[in-house]
Amino acid sequence: MEVIIKANMKHAAELVAQLVADQIHKKPKSSMGLATGNTMEAVYDELVKKYQNGALDFSAIHTFNLDEYIGLPEDSVHSYRSYMNRFLFDRVNISKENTHLPMGCAADLKAECQRYENLIKKYPIDVQLLGIGRTGHIGFNEPLSSLMSRTRDKSLTPQTIEQNIGLFGDQKDLMPQRALTMGVGTILEARQIILLATGSSKAEIIAKALEGPVTSMVTASALQLHPHCVVVLDEAAAANLQGTEYYRWIYENEPDWAPYR
Ligand code: F6R
Repeated sequence: MEVIIKANMKHAAELVAQLVADQIHKKPKSSMGLATGNTMEAVYDELVKKYQNGALDFSAIHTFNLDEYIGLPEDSVHSYRSYMNRFLFDRVNISKENTHLPMGCAADLKAECQRYENLIKKYPIDVQLLGIGRTGHIGFNEPLSSLMSRTRDKSLTPQTIEQNIGLFGDQKDLMPQRALTMGVGTILEARQIILLATGSSKAEIIAKALEGPVTSMVTASALQLHPHCVVVLDEAAAANLQGTEYYRWIYENEPDWAPYR
């Protein structure tokens, strides 16, 4: 795992967008794992800017989102499909038929999870983008999720409901309490993982996930097992880490990071 600490949220999002753009340049038919949430909005804005400047072509990529709420129709303004359309898909030259999310409205949720797993097997994910929830979740893998789990339905914790209720206008009855999510095991099979966390509300959980023990109580800690995981933070999210001096030294001195400094 490599930890990169940027001065602020904007610079952190710019770096993540550049890493995504470089992957697509290197392999135009990349399979990209995507996340939703407040943190990712700045990354998608940067990617859209690159597209508008003629510096990025999304036409051949496939995308796989981590999760979707159960029971929301795709065209609900609150669905993650709508989020992705709004923040990225409607703003770039991506082929919509190549954009995949689990369907939270499927009649048979088990079959839907299997369909999603099969599709990911067909287009193995090159780079998976992740945020982290205040419970330490990646995707919606809440505490005690098996670290080998596959795509399935999960109940959200009260803390996650509180974290995301703002997106539902604070109306609890509008927000589903369950979601379909890629499992931790599914996520760990991506060739590369990039986790982005910004803001002081993530400082405590980031320290647990990166420097604490690997535990299903903090599913993001399973990223310590991944051979190619980059964590991009702003100063606020990095505030509780012990090893920042070393992480900064690596970023300043490793030749691989030279083009990004
Ligand atoms: C979203 C997802 C979640 C979020 C996490 C952070 O698809 O899978 O794990 O990445 O809850 O959300 P924000 O960025 O809103 O703090």
